[in-house]
Amino acid sequence: MRRLLLCPPDYYGIEYEINPWMRRTRNAEPGLACVQWKALCDTLRTLGCQIDLLAPQPGLPDLVFTANAGLVIGRRFILSSFRHKERRGEEGHFERWFAEHGFEVVKLPPKLIFEGEGDGLFCGDVLFCGYRFRSDIQSHLFLTELLHNLVVSVELVDERFYHLDTCFCPLPDGSAIWFPEAFDGYGQRAIREHCASLIEVAREEAVHFACNAIVLERDIVLPDGCPGLCRLLDKAGYRTHELPMNEFIKAGGACKCLALLVPAR
Ligand code: ARG
Repeated sequence: MRRLLLCPPDYYGIEYEINPWMRRTRNAEPGLACVQWKALCDTLRTLGCQIDLLAPQPGLPDLVFTANAGLVIGRRFILSSFRHKERRGEEGHFERWFAEHGFEVVKLPPKLIFEGEGDGLFCGDVLFCGYRFRSDIQSHLFLTELLHNLVVSVELVDERFYHLDTCFCPLPDGSAIWFPEAFDGYGQRAIREHCASLIEVAREEAVHFACNAIVLERDIVLPDGCPGLCRLLDKAGYRTHELPMNEFIKAGGACKCLALLVPAR
């Protein structure tokens, strides 16, 4: 059974601009955001996930994007250290939740920036880590030494795809969904070399957050409006579950950003 951490969107909104998707003049519609978030929760529960909830906090509109809390590896929780001051207030809430739930909280050395599962995703045994717009490459060295695991650092080159989970989505068999143009030549080669096979997303679907999907074995929960990817996934034997996510895309996030994988006990 998959265990996921989500945070209800009670205080969600576009209150600042820290990525090219966010416009304060284009705020989220609270009622609709709530409906979309609930539909995500219900879908995940129907697919057998255990959902844990973090208490929403006033003044932290991006707390809903729990994928950025950190990275959970076994009983260790590597707490994120955010690039933007607007999100730094979230760190203490994530830290408390994981400490209270029996995890050993690991903090990054001062000044290292790392934004959790948003920029760190396992594909098979390899931990792929994105850097440049948010996480710093220096944090990847810390992860390598801490985890004794192969970490492959890939540079993100398009501001709209500022987190790795906006353009790369590992699948259970060591393959992945990706949008190659979000990476430089080296990153593209590294991904091609380490992934068993790759499903490429077209630009018009990539900008619709097609890669920002939650993968639960054969079931994939992704934003609606990505028919090309759905066809490819159907052909590859996956069941796709499309959900409207436009209220969260306004903040630069979709399905995957709203959930953090917590290994079950
Ligand atoms: N507004 C949030 C930010 O810019 C969105 C975070 C999306 N999360 C993600 N894992 N891609 O930080």
